[in-house]
Amino acid sequence: MEQAPVIRPLVVGDLEKIVSIEQEAHAYPWKKSIHLSCIEQGYPSLVLEQGRAIIAYVVFNYLYDECHLMNITTQPSVQGRGYASQLIQTLYEHSKLAGMKAIVLEVRESNHPALSFYTKEQFEKIGYRPNYYPKGQEREGAVVMMRSLTNHTPA
Ligand SMILES: CC(C)(COP(=O)(O)OP(=O)(O)OC[C@H]1O[C@@H](n2cnc3c(N)ncnc32)[C@H](O)[C@@H]1OP(=O)(O)O)[C@@H](O)C(=O)NCCC(=O)NCCS
Repeated sequence: MEQAPVIRPLVVGDLEKIVSIEQEAHAYPWKKSIHLSCIEQGYPSLVLEQGRAIIAYVVFNYLYDECHLMNITTQPSVQGRGYASQLIQTLYEHSKLAGMKAIVLEVRESNHPALSFYTKEQFEKIGYRPNYYPKGQEREGAVVMMRSLTNHTPA
């Protein structure tokens, strides 16, 4: 039987593995220097391990009473198995304990899997930023989404 995943803080020793998953999973991956900068700035990010191997991570930070979710990624070979859902539940718990009232994020308007994921997680669209992300020689917009942490009861 498969062991339950372990969710723990992301530390600098995880950097190489995170960057490797990032490059595999994203059409426009973050550079290693961005991940390193998030770690150095002390963002309270999390990784999910299955059998001691990292397979998903979420990078976020707290700003006043809002948690800003900047990157959630599951290794492509194990997507669709509920790992991001488990990780984001832990993010909600940590954020509530830290006094956050809501989670806020931006997502590429063409990123349909992520949009479906956030919608299932009861995020609502609260804005739109045109030409926010580079996309090849062009740009694409960002959908801004928010999920309250005070209006939801556990499923
Ligand atoms: C978005 C992402 C993190 C989801 O991770 P995951 O571990 O595969 O997600 P889960 O298995 O927990 O899926 C939960 C729900 O999200 C939705 N979802 C996830 N992947 C989906 C897809 N490819 N198409 C449509 N809906 C999808 C579904 O509603 C799913 O529930 P269901 O399985 O009951 O239908 C993953 O697709 C990913 O890493 N994408 C690349 C990185 C990225 O774009 N991150 C988001 C922006 S930073």
